[in-house]
Amino acid sequence: MKKFLLFGLLILFIGTIVAFALKKDEPSFENPKAHYKEYCAGCHGEQLKSFVNRKWIYGNSWNEVFASIKEGYPDDGMPAYDTAFTDQQIGELTDYILNGIESITQEYFDDDFDLSGIIESEEMKFEVEEVVGNLGVPWGLAFLPNGDMLITERSGKFHRYRAGEKLHAIRGVPEVAARGQGGLMDVELHPNFSENKWIYLSYSKPKGNEQTTAILRAKLENDRLIDQKVILEAAPYSSRRIHFGSRLEFDRSGYLFLSVGDRGRRDQNPQSLDNHCGKIHRVHDDGSIPEDNPFVNTSGAVGSIYSYGHRNPQGLARNPATGQIWAHEHGPRGGDEVNLIQKGKNYGWPVISYGINYSGTQFTNITEKEGMMQPELYWVPSIAACGLTFVHGDRYPAWKGDLLAGSLRFQYIARLKMENNKIVGEEKLVSNIGRVRDIKMGHDGLIYFTVEGPGRVFRIVPAP
Ligand code: HEC
Repeated sequence: MKKFLLFGLLILFIGTIVAFALKKDEPSFENPKAHYKEYCAGCHGEQLKSFVNRKWIYGNSWNEVFASIKEGYPDDGMPAYDTAFTDQQIGELTDYILNGIESITQEYFDDDFDLSGIIESEEMKFEVEEVVGNLGVPWGLAFLPNGDMLITERSGKFHRYRAGEKLHAIRGVPEVAARGQGGLMDVELHPNFSENKWIYLSYSKPKGNEQTTAILRAKLENDRLIDQKVILEAAPYSSRRIHFGSRLEFDRSGYLFLSVGDRGRRDQNPQSLDNHCGKIHRVHDDGSIPEDNPFVNTSGAVGSIYSYGHRNPQGLARNPATGQIWAHEHGPRGGDEVNLIQKGKNYGWPVISYGINYSGTQFTNITEKEGMMQPELYWVPSIAACGLTFVHGDRYPAWKGDLLAGSLRFQYIARLKMENNKIVGEEKLVSNIGRVRDIKMGHDGLIYFTVEGPGRVFRIVPAP
């Protein structure tokens, strides 16, 4: 008995010493590090990425960084943390960022993904090839019938790329408000492009100090955009430079689907049918409103609305097998969703959600409600979903019919395994490749995707 007691005391003693040693070795960054990961990493990168080699907008002195965190910049999507943290905690976060970036260099991130070699995923082996480099934020990707690639950059640049040639600049891009999350965004070809040469661009259209999501239709001829017409201009304009949504996709019948985010006004926009924001719209190819849209006869409703209650959908894809339109959208902290878009349905934002506020507080405590659609899949934590496409053709037999979704935050492609029109599993592909923006299938049957930081276009080539 005495022996046991002694043994117990010894264990206690050693335990205390170990705990003490650990505590001593653990830098005082323990809390800020955890806070950073939980509150900030979703937007600024897991390893302080967005602060390394940064062109600081609001200044990088201790006081300026402190003020940025405390007061935020809501118009640009930077939340204020004055209620979430004490001044001391904000000070610790400031130290954590300013000290942290001194020990991390850009090379640390550039080296992350090794492009040489074959990747063995669950059901396929493949290689990743760089197709285009030296881009800014390559937001949208489309393919011309001859295989040339169209690439938009958020800054407003628009390129045509032909294998083996340098980038060709496309002229006539409208003025875009390239700040915050806005700028030149998606690009889509008319299903009948070969005959009519129509292409569609989504962008943030400026008006004074405000901007909105707009859709331009133009003819692409000799690398110029001619016969331009703005076919949709979302109402209302807002000084907020966030949540533009703005993916474009045609369905089989030739209707153009497009997404508009809630513009950071979740209490005004997504649940109300009198505005365009927080909605997925369906229009004819000239922007006119189909007579059988769900709300054309609802008084005060915007006729182009097809579904509502969305936050910021940045993925739209037509399932080649069923013709249905799928979407994904950014949740807040947690609660990114994949949805099957159905006519007239309410997807619930912000009444129901699997996410919480960036500050850590709750804005709703319900995740389901009668009359509101449940997502096909949701992600907690948020992956910051961007870009969506279905795998088709014969180059990736094991992935055929699956859905590919990009992650800005965790920098991978999520392969959502599909069975009987349901998502039944998920695999992460190409981890650490960069913030994935868009994913498309090329006419050569290969999967192409764009990443930012640095901006590049890659393709996935099956290995024998
Ligand atoms: C929802 C996304 C989001 C979250 C979450 C977020 N930020 Fe930001 N932050 C931004 C945006 C957007 C900006 C504006 C600058 C820009 O556009 O890059 C910004 C700006 C800043 C700046 C000023 C940078 C400069 O260039 O002057 C600091 C410092 C900062 N954030 C720190 C933090 C910290 C610390 C946290 C966590 C406690 C945090 N942010 C959480 C999106 C976010």
